[in-house]
Amino acid sequence: MLTSAGGAVPLTGRPVRREPDDPGLGPEGYRLDITPEGVRLTGGGPAGRFYGLRTLDQLGPRAPRLTVEDRPRFAWRGVMLDVARHFMPKDFVLRLIDLLALHKLNVLHLHLTDDQGWRLEIKRYPLLTEVGARRGGGFYTHEDVREILAYAAERFVTVVPEIEMPGHAQAAVAAYPRLGNQPERRLDVWDGWGISEHVLNLEEPTIRFCQDVLDEVVDLFPGPYVHVGGDECPTREWERSPAARRRIAELGLPGPAAARAWFIGRMAAHLAERGRRLVCWDEGDDVSPDAVLMAWRDAEPGPRAGAEVVLAPHRHTYFDYYPSGEPGQPPAQEGVVSLADAYHFAPPARRGVLGVQCQLWTEYMPTPEHVEYMAFPRLCAFAEVAWGSAGDFPDFLTRLPAHLDRLAALGVNLGPVRT
Ligand code: ACM
Repeated sequence: MLTSAGGAVPLTGRPVRREPDDPGLGPEGYRLDITPEGVRLTGGGPAGRFYGLRTLDQLGPRAPRLTVEDRPRFAWRGVMLDVARHFMPKDFVLRLIDLLALHKLNVLHLHLTDDQGWRLEIKRYPLLTEVGARRGGGFYTHEDVREILAYAAERFVTVVPEIEMPGHAQAAVAAYPRLGNQPERRLDVWDGWGISEHVLNLEEPTIRFCQDVLDEVVDLFPGPYVHVGGDECPTREWERSPAARRRIAELGLPGPAAARAWFIGRMAAHLAERGRRLVCWDEGDDVSPDAVLMAWRDAEPGPRAGAEVVLAPHRHTYFDYYPSGEPGQPPAQEGVVSLADAYHFAPPARRGVLGVQCQLWTEYMPTPEHVEYMAFPRLCAFAEVAWGSAGDFPDFLTRLPAHLDRLAALGVNLGPVRT
C-alpha cells in the first residue's frame, strides 16, 4: 500500500537503515521510508525485512520519496512445479526459488512422483528411483534436497513435497509390483500422458510402504506440510480385484469410490502423529478434518466443516494451458489461461483460505527454458493476486514492461505478452 509519494529520489549508494522489528506489521509485513537522506526499513520480522528489500529493488535506482507499508493478503503464495513428467535439474529448482522470492512468493510445491516418474531418493526403497526415475533420467538425492531446502530457507520459501497416492502411482508399481492390484504383473513406468488406471492396492503392507516413504520425507523436509496427491484415482482395478473388494468389505466402506478417501485418511493420521499436516488435491469428498485441501477444479470447494483450503483453480492458475487461443504456439495442455485470466483470479476472503497457488504441470514442458516460457509473464500476474495488490488490469499492463525488462536482464526466457 502506498501511503505517500513525492518527487523522485536517487537510491544509489544511499544507506538502508534497519529499524527494530515492529511485530505489528505482521511476520511478512514491512515499512519503507524513503527520503533524500536515506532509507529506513522496518520489518515485522525477518521475512518482512526481506520483502522490504525486494520492494526497494523493484523501485529501481530513482525511487519516489515515499512511505510504503505493506503486507501480504495470503500466507500461502505457492507455485507448483511438476518434476515427475519432465525432470527438472536441481540448478533450475534453485533458480526458480530465486524467481519466487523476487515475486514475494513463499511456497514451492514439488510434484515429485507420478505415473511417469519417481524423482526423490528413498533410501529404504531404492527401486523407486532405480526403476521409477529411469524415464527422463533424473531424481533428487537427499543431498540435493538439503541444498534446495537451505537455498529456499534463505529466501523465506517453504518447500512442500508431494508424493502421489493411491492413484498417479504407476512409477511406484513399476518399481514394486507388490504395490499393485495384480502383483504378478510387470508394468513399465508410463510413457504416455493422462490418468493411468494402475493404482496402489489397499492392503496393509502397501499402507505401511507409503507410511515408510512419508517417514523418510518427514525426516528430510522440515516444513509443516506434506502433500500426498490423491487426485484422479480411477477405481476400475479395485472394482475388478477380488482382494480389493474383500478389503473394502472388511473395512466397512460403502464401495470402491470410498477407498481413496480412506487411504488418504490413513496418511493424514500418520502424518499428524509426526506433527505434520497432510495436503491433498480436492476431489469433492471428505478425507480428514485435519487435511488441507488444494482446490483445483473450481474456484472453491463446496463448504466442508473445518476444511482449510489452498485455492488453485485451473481456469486461472494452470500455466500449462495455452496462454491464448492463437494458432501456431508450441504444444500445451488443452485449455486457455490468458494473462487477463491469471490477473482476474479473485480469491474469496473467507476463513479457512490459507492461500493460492499456480501450477506448472510439465507434460508439454520438456526443458527449464520452456517452463520459464510458460510461467512468464502469467506468474507476475499471479504474484499480485497472491500478495493482494492486484487491481486494475490495464494499470498492470502499463507496469509490466519495466518488470519484464528486469526478468529479461536475469536471463528469464519470457513467453509472449498476450492478453
Ligand atoms: C490435477 O490437475 N489433477 C490436480
